Amino acid sequence: MVQTKIGVIGGSGLYEMPGLQNAKWGTMDSPWGAPSDQLLSGVMDGVPMVFLPRHGRGHVHSPSSVPYRANIDVLKRLGVTDVISVSACGSFHEEMAPGDFVIVDQFIDRTFAREKSFFGTGCVAHVSVAHPVCARLSAACATAAEAAGITVHRGGTYLAMEGPQFSTRSESVMYRNVWQADVIGMTNMPEAKLAREAELCYASVAMITDYDSWHPDHGSVDLAEIIRILTGNAQKGQTLVGSLPDLLGVQRSTCPDGCDHALEGAILTAPDK
Ligand code: ADE
Repeated sequence: MVQTKIGVIGGSGLYEMPGLQNAKWGTMDSPWGAPSDQLLSGVMDGVPMVFLPRHGRGHVHSPSSVPYRANIDVLKRLGVTDVISVSACGSFHEEMAPGDFVIVDQFIDRTFAREKSFFGTGCVAHVSVAHPVCARLSAACATAAEAAGITVHRGGTYLAMEGPQFSTRSESVMYRNVWQADVIGMTNMPEAKLAREAELCYASVAMITDYDSWHPDHGSVDLAEIIRILTGNAQKGQTLVGSLPDLLGVQRSTCPDGCDHALEGAILTAPDK
């Protein structure tokens, strides 16, 4: 059996974690540099939990400058078993409306200016990300969202763009019509890939804030509107996260999807090198 420890990476609009008992902010460092901010550790319903604001309190890291490797590294060192990524996204479907949540199950990674792996010169590894999220953890997030009365879409393809600018209309139309992405955001990659390399279960809870720029009736993406939707959704996100300890349990068996042994057979470098 494995002792559950939940790590929450909070996105825009989720900078705190009320309801955490004995909560304390603490500084940590990693061989990959400093994480986005201090980490808030505590306990919820008997399950240890750690919260890390992805952009830092005060929103100081852009999507390209978030220290993704350091963030995943410190969660791993703290003994986190299950990582919940909470983030904002735009929608490519009329019926996936602002205010709805999507439990993402696939990605198209179009980011290009970020460090994407813990491996490289000295130790080479190729992990599979064919199924980039943990199905068990994602199902728990969907159940938690439904219990919180949130309109939730189980499954969806998230296009990760570099940003920081939003997409042009032509890009948006192509992502929607040709590539068939469901939502778009700037932060879930390389986070999901790094979580897999770190053998952590990872689920992505994406909160829809806008229709990106393909929608004929909605014009350009408006940051003020995104913030308005996020502020309205923060409570829902917190309620969702608050029911996860109960759903996941204090102890659990190893991951049925194999997230916790993703490196088996993935390392090419000889052990004596
Ligand atoms: N985050 C929230 N809305 C977004 C959009 N339309 N494109 C990229 N990232 C987003």
